[in-house]
Amino acid sequence: MSVKEKKSVERLPKYKLAKSLKSFSLEYGIEEKDIIKLAGNENRYGCSRKVLEAINNKESDFSFYPDMNVTLLREKLSKKYNINPENFIFGNGSFELITLIGEAFISSGNEVIYNDPSFGWYLNVTLKNEGTIIRVPVTEDKAVDTEEILKRINDKTKVIWLCNPNNPTGTVIPSEVLKDFVERVPHHVLLVLDEAYIDFIDGDYIDTIDFVRKYNNVIILRTFSKSYGLASFRIGYGIADVSIIENLLKVKLPINLGLVAQTAALAALDDEEFTDFIIKKNREQLQYYYTEFEKLNLRYIPSNGNFVLVNIGISGTFAEKEFAKKGIIIRNGEEFGLDEWLRISVGKPEENKKVIEVLKEIVKEN
Ligand SMILES: Cc1ncc(COP(=O)(O)O)c(C=O)c1O
Repeated sequence: MSVKEKKSVERLPKYKLAKSLKSFSLEYGIEEKDIIKLAGNENRYGCSRKVLEAINNKESDFSFYPDMNVTLLREKLSKKYNINPENFIFGNGSFELITLIGEAFISSGNEVIYNDPSFGWYLNVTLKNEGTIIRVPVTEDKAVDTEEILKRINDKTKVIWLCNPNNPTGTVIPSEVLKDFVERVPHHVLLVLDEAYIDFIDGDYIDTIDFVRKYNNVIILRTFSKSYGLASFRIGYGIADVSIIENLLKVKLPINLGLVAQTAALAALDDEEFTDFIIKKNREQLQYYYTEFEKLNLRYIPSNGNFVLVNIGISGTFAEKEFAKKGIIIRNGEEFGLDEWLRISVGKPEENKKVIEVLKEIVKEN
């Protein structure tokens, strides 16, 4: 007989991540260098050269524990956003921060609102902490239904997970709608505004840090994994009222952000040229996808992320396998309840071209 797990763990589904290059290589017998991975919304241009230089100068400090208060990065971000250093918390990616929010704020009997579909980790964290998930489907245009979310709030509501721009749909809540929404969320509800893709927003967006200055029930999450290209370093941060931060710090691992990660993030902030280049390339390549989808008569959702959602009119699982045979990893929308849709991360021009070539074959033959 094996040791019995907790009830909340028994009910917990395994979290499904995009396949890593290593596991895909082993499964399909394709060398890692020949794989085009467009399934994890990663940055296909790597990271800034300034990051590489900075981390190479740190060997002498490796035998010490890193600064657990992340002082330098905290101060730099505090200046950048004009908000106190105490309003920040750092995590091993925003994955960890989402986990901490669940541990500190969600328990049995709490209702937790999830815009459906959105980032899947919100669901696991809610279930692990025995919260009840209240799903609010996106609209026909795949936009977040803020009015419906407001309607579903009651005395039991504890947390709203709001990903803006939303993964996997790529939609963004317009600034005025968002402002009005935040104002109307009652103060007993913690609003988690996950802005992992904020840098890719096409058009104007308000200074959402103002919400933190104004309200003590909002936490903003951001990450160095996307526009800065530092996904493997695992650096995310939250910005919120001190009352929220203090409770998250109680459940956080005492030392969670390594020296190399802290060094990399600091250097990345010094290279705006690099992120500007990434954002420009992303826009250009999204435009390429739109043009090609239109030629193929495929419905797509204009994106504010570094990925695009497209309806191919045939089974996503089938298409995923066909892409895999050609060494391309994309995300099958069925995982998000979007049958016949694919989520494709934006790659380099030659990679996106290859995606379109394969897509043409799949769509033509089926
Ligand atoms: C919406 C959203 N939030 C959070 C994360 C996690 O990011 P991180 O690498 O900072 O853990 C992701 C990763 O893809 C994401 O899409």
